[in-house]
Amino acid sequence: MAASGEAGRQWQEEVAAVVVVGSCMTDLVSLTPRLPKTGETIHGHKFFIGFGGKGANQCVQAARLGARTSMVCKEATGRTGESENQVGKDSFGNDYIENLKQNDISTEFAYQTEDAATGTASIIVNKEGQNIIVIVAGANLLLNTKDLREATDVIRRAKVMICQLEVTPATSLEALTMAHSSGVKTLFNPAPATADLDSRFYTLSDVFCCNESEAEILTGLAVSSPADAGTAALVLLERGCQVVIITLGAEGCVMLSKTEPVPKFIPTEKVKAVDTTGAGDSFVGALAFYLAYYPNLSLEEMLKRSNFIAAVSVQTAGTQSSYPHKKDLPLDLF
Ligand SMILES: Nc1ncnc2c1ncn2[C@@H]1O[C@H](COP(=O)(O)OP(=O)(O)OP(=O)(O)O)[C@@H](O)[C@H]1O
Ligand SMILES: *[C@@H]1O[C@H](CO)[C@@H](O)[C@H](O)[C@H]1NC(C)=O
Ligand SMILES: *[C@@H]1O[C@H](CO)[C@@H](O)[C@H](O)[C@H]1NC(C)=O
Repeated sequence: MAASGEAGRQWQEEVAAVVVVGSCMTDLVSLTPRLPKTGETIHGHKFFIGFGGKGANQCVQAARLGARTSMVCKEATGRTGESENQVGKDSFGNDYIENLKQNDISTEFAYQTEDAATGTASIIVNKEGQNIIVIVAGANLLLNTKDLREATDVIRRAKVMICQLEVTPATSLEALTMAHSSGVKTLFNPAPATADLDSRFYTLSDVFCCNESEAEILTGLAVSSPADAGTAALVLLERGCQVVIITLGAEGCVMLSKTEPVPKFIPTEKVKAVDTTGAGDSFVGALAFYLAYYPNLSLEEMLKRSNFIAAVSVQTAGTQSSYPHKKDLPLDLF
């Protein structure tokens, strides 16, 4: 069980409206003039550590809009353990839990393990903004169905649950099943996508939200325009989702629902992007906020607002550090 300080205690009395079952990753970022070749050592000019992982990113965006949130995830302990697999001292897990608390997210079910390292993404970015990335999911893959069972109450009392694919598929499926069977709205983001996605992910998704390249992987169709996205969304809808949304970068997104199975393009005002990393997660987190707190808004209106919030996030550097807070956004979004 996670350490819970003042914020943690306060939280136990309040029901989380948005629960995320997903990943936390520590981003280790080096900025270099160019990408190194095999066997080569080069000097970079800047290094920083950031907080990432799709699950936590989405949770942070929802929380910053004012949602009561709880993160179900797994990191390493700060201690050196006795276990055979123990990986030595890893302070990233404690730092990550502190980051969640700073964002007012309940860490009651942010577990810590001695059996794997905290998930990391080692990222090298060159002057052109191109990158190479190595992800070691580590402790994220140890989040299991027993952990979910401990979080049953929080999951069943939520309004919305969000899942992605950076924890094991079995864990995501079990989380979605628990939510679905209690009438909790499920928002599933199939990222990173695989072509052979278990068919239950579709039938368990009230809202299935992916980007263009994920839609391509899942359907085998090329997606490079709103019209293509509409066609791909229909294919995904037919696999059993209630609603399908495909994000289209600066173009906005396309939506489709079982009740209105005609693709609708929701354009957005294009902005000059400084750093698009995590834009999709900002969008998903914002959508969860609206689904939980403004259920009477039309889906189209929720998506217009989510487009707007994600566009704000691309205009400053960083992932979570670029996600806007409610106080910095126009009042008419709330
Ligand atoms: N240049 C932009 N101008 C306006 N909105 C943008 C821009 N780029 C992204 N967005 C917003 O962000 C949302 C998500 O972007 P995108 O489809 O690129 O997701 P993604 O590929 O998952 O993001 P990521 O860059 O994190 O991989 C879009 O639907 C849109 O609302
Ligand atoms: C879609 O998201 C994936 C991560 O799941 C990312 O690697 C890819 O670049 C994104 N695609 C687009 C078109 O932004
Ligand atoms: C939302 O709609 C429901 C059912 O139509 C209604 O009972 C409820 O008062 C509405 N809530 C808000 C906040 O408008």
